[in-house]
Amino acid sequence: KDWIVGIDIGGTNLVVGLVPAEGGAPEALRVRATEPARGPEAVVTDVVRMAREAVREVSAGMDDGEAISVIGVGVGCPGPIDREAGLVIESPNLRWRMYPLRERIEALVDWPVAIDNDANCATYGEWWQGAGKGSSSLIGITLGTGVGGGYILDGRVVHGASGGAGEIGHTTVNVSGRRCACGNEGCVEAYASGPAIAARAREGLANGVQSSLLELVDGDPERITAATVYEAVVDGDPFATEVLTEAARFLGAGIANVINILNPEAVVIMGGVTRAGDHLFKPLKAEVRRRAFKSLVDACSILPAELPETAGVVGAAGVFLAERRDAAL
Ligand code: BGC
Ligand code: NA
Ligand code: ZN
Repeated sequence: KDWIVGIDIGGTNLVVGLVPAEGGAPEALRVRATEPARGPEAVVTDVVRMAREAVREVSAGMDDGEAISVIGVGVGCPGPIDREAGLVIESPNLRWRMYPLRERIEALVDWPVAIDNDANCATYGEWWQGAGKGSSSLIGITLGTGVGGGYILDGRVVHGASGGAGEIGHTTVNVSGRRCACGNEGCVEAYASGPAIAARAREGLANGVQSSLLELVDGDPERITAATVYEAVVDGDPFATEVLTEAARFLGAGIANVINILNPEAVVIMGGVTRAGDHLFKPLKAEVRRRAFKSLVDACSILPAELPETAGVVGAAGVFLAERRDAAL
């Protein structure tokens, strides 16, 4: 059996696992904090170590401890990616610029390496094995430290002219809106990312809003994260509900724009925030319906991810396989 190492470099976590080439759930998953302030070299060292550990773990589980066959490595990383050169062109949340990610990983391992944008990988993962299986045009949106987007058309990731197609998180939904890490203002990410949701909640509290949020963090607003906001929403807190609804509306506006441009068959929403379920999806879908052409909305399913924790790793492995297939053509 052949395996691919899938690596998902996220703004918050690094996730690494081994994915069977024939498809299936990743094994020997490993997760650790990215801590981007350490710089790219430390991140590369970590993911390579995690990959080796995962290979050792899966090998140890084989009968007679035989070595397993690893055919390559797929890596997803935030930001537009120059796949040919193997470069991360710019990644605002990691603060990497023109970083030769593929070369740096290849220097440490004997396997061939393919890299792509993290959200492209996650979307590909959902297309290959998750909620988007079988759809001919699929948009994926990842909600986390950043807001990412991916576009799969007829089974292939769409990359655009320079590797940046699908940067949905940095499309403008408010021309005089909140400042974004990318330098623009009013981006989807400035409203719907985890840090943006937490920041909105803190602002409300600073303005004296009453909310059960404060109790969840023992009175320390600095400890509020997007997860705290969902927790308060589930408890029925009106202010937290308002904050999440606002994020869902801006995200919905962004998705409506994408639907009107691309007329996709499905949109898959990924990331921890999907745990909020209807609290997120109801206002989101209502906003999409309010803004996009009815016939296009009717043709499009908006779905929660089926692989919320692993789409990035699975998809990075899938992207490696797809690149190898293309190169062999
Ligand atoms: C980046 C995307 C990335 C997303 C999720 C955004 O800020 O621009 O490239 O996919 O974050 O990490
Ligand atoms: Na993307
Ligand atoms: Zn932006």
